[in-house]
Amino acid sequence: MPSAPFPDRARIDAHAKVTGATAYAADIPLPGLLYAMTVPATIAKGRIESLSVDAAKRVPGVVCVLTAADYPTPAMPPPAKGVTPAASPTPTITAEIAYRGQPVALVVAETLEAAIEGAEAIRPHFSETPFQSLIDSADTMREPFRPTKIGDAPRLMATAATTIDEHYVAPAQHHNPIEMLSTTAVMHNGKLIIYEGTQGAAMVRQSVARSLNLDQAMIEVKSEYIGGAFGQKGSIQRQSAIVARAAMLLGRPVKLAMPRTQIFHNATFRPRSRHHVTLGADATGKLIAIRYDADHQQSRKGGFPPAYHETPPRMCGIMDYDGTCANVRIDTQDPGFMRAPNPHPSHFAFESAVDELAYKVNRDPLAFRLDHHAEIDPVSGKPMSSVYLNECLAEGARRFGWGRRTMAPGSMMLPDGIMIGWGVAAGAYPGPTTPTIATLRIAADGTTRFAVAGHEMGQGIRTVIAQLLERELGIDTRRLEILIGDTSVAPQHMTAGSWGTISVVPAVEKAAARMKEAIAELAAGRTLSGSIHQQLAVTRRPVLEVEVSNIAPGQDSTALDKLRAGDFARGGPTYPDYTTASYIAHFVEVRVEPRTRRVRVPRVVSVCDGGRIVSPRTAASQVRGGVIMAIGSALREETEVDPRFGGWLNADLADYVVPVNADIGEIDVNFIDRPDPLLNSVGAKGVGEVSMVGAAAAVANAVYHATGKRIRKMPIRIEDLI
Ligand code: MOS
Repeated sequence: MPSAPFPDRARIDAHAKVTGATAYAADIPLPGLLYAMTVPATIAKGRIESLSVDAAKRVPGVVCVLTAADYPTPAMPPPAKGVTPAASPTPTITAEIAYRGQPVALVVAETLEAAIEGAEAIRPHFSETPFQSLIDSADTMREPFRPTKIGDAPRLMATAATTIDEHYVAPAQHHNPIEMLSTTAVMHNGKLIIYEGTQGAAMVRQSVARSLNLDQAMIEVKSEYIGGAFGQKGSIQRQSAIVARAAMLLGRPVKLAMPRTQIFHNATFRPRSRHHVTLGADATGKLIAIRYDADHQQSRKGGFPPAYHETPPRMCGIMDYDGTCANVRIDTQDPGFMRAPNPHPSHFAFESAVDELAYKVNRDPLAFRLDHHAEIDPVSGKPMSSVYLNECLAEGARRFGWGRRTMAPGSMMLPDGIMIGWGVAAGAYPGPTTPTIATLRIAADGTTRFAVAGHEMGQGIRTVIAQLLERELGIDTRRLEILIGDTSVAPQHMTAGSWGTISVVPAVEKAAARMKEAIAELAAGRTLSGSIHQQLAVTRRPVLEVEVSNIAPGQDSTALDKLRAGDFARGGPTYPDYTTASYIAHFVEVRVEPRTRRVRVPRVVSVCDGGRIVSPRTAASQVRGGVIMAIGSALREETEVDPRFGGWLNADLADYVVPVNADIGEIDVNFIDRPDPLLNSVGAKGVGEVSMVGAAAAVANAVYHATGKRIRKMPIRIEDLI
């Protein structure tokens, strides 16, 4: 039975976070800690011919310098796992340089200052080879990826009365979580312990083991709290094995906190992508066929997929869809997952094109969307487990006041010349589920401990767990300890793709039910009263622990074996009987200043179908964050390549411009809050990724409505509107 609505409650770790009590990976105090700094490559491609460590070793406080010679060769690159691409080149130090900024040495010192000074003293001699740093150049390598063909789009397109045939571009972008990348490693009782902010503690364990030829059983990875991740920490990080090796060789703990500019060059990023969208409508103005060709920037060996057809086919109820995609291989570090990885760029393109088509057939863009409702997943042919997108659109329109909009671009200008534009766009994000093993321990002293696969990157997974345990068992959440992101407390699966909450909640419900049964068995017919802790005390047991597991619909126990082995074991989003996705509708108001053409976004209304919302406060916060990232994407963020030298030009927060408080107006977030009847016992679907999908198109559509200028690339800048 799907559950009743959940009450609003504060984030369970709010107090700890605002008082600074929360310990992130780089905050863990370890006696005898050494500080490390990496030396970045200053060429775009080539080889280290020689590297002298003498100058660095003369810096007072420098303990040692590790170079390629100190790492196993040939180290095995960690293999691709499910949707997680392998890291390339092997994430250690190698003589081959694949991209500017790749680490060529690690300096370890007694102080951070000495480590930095030592790193700056190293001047390797490189031999350079020609490189390619832009996908728009003629001599790039194009590599087609899986096409998405549904029905017979070419035949229908030939009959279309109206078409839209346009090109859209989404820029390279970098995530900039407040918590920067860091790794702290220490040998303890024969085990290598790694503290790292990561979405995949088991992934780190496995990749360090592969990179250094170690048995993964000797490694534990701890990622208790993460200060923002957004997919950046869902990829293998360059520094993990490099730092781990230093800690093993030195027998002392070693910490590396990567400087922001090195993060831009070494972390995965959202690749530049190009989208050619053709929409065909019949004489009544109804969409009948879609052709969509996409490609994106890819590294030489990278595997982040150009999967831009994940969601557009699931939006409009069109059974004739012809999609192609491709990697364009150049010399860069690996691109990777960044919030709403493929759907954000693809919905910028697709939802802009839908707006263009609505205008061309003279239909209100909202009415046009409401008329193109999908209940079947055209990709799998299965029904969607739940779709409340039209409810999102209708409720959003009501809250936004869409009925007062006049259709013509430029028609809502204020007397002082300010151009007002109202735009709408929709989004979807698939709903996969991962297997989970969890233990719940109740103690007679009033404490509770819950350990599970999961990572808290700020999205509120601890609050979700606490909310459910409180409702099911009436426990005191102030005395609740939640252990996650730690390979030593439970098998860890990567947390990403909006599957965190939906994978954990069924396990929490099962654990609570099992606990009630276990207490009843101990009671042996007696009626116990009081809290669950008091009931346990009456049975004269100090603690009671239960273990449960959960798998995705359609999975069998091999999924749990994979989870235990640290492998990727995702199920869905297409399950045996249905496909699951979350949905959202965004309504955006922009105001464009007539002389400077400065674009402001005073108001956004977003209504999300995330199934049953377990933690309303943190879920709303997630959606607000996703909308803000989309505003940043639409109007500010682009990482620019220096084609003369390779690498990124604006690799710091002074030049990579993100929205600040003054850029963000009111964001009204609402949920349909209707349970998905099929996906899990709570009826929850994900919200973290879908929150961003479509919002950038809503900004672009609003800019068009304000100015009459259709900007088909992000970010939309002042110079585009003059
Ligand atoms: Mo997400 S971008 O899969 O962490």
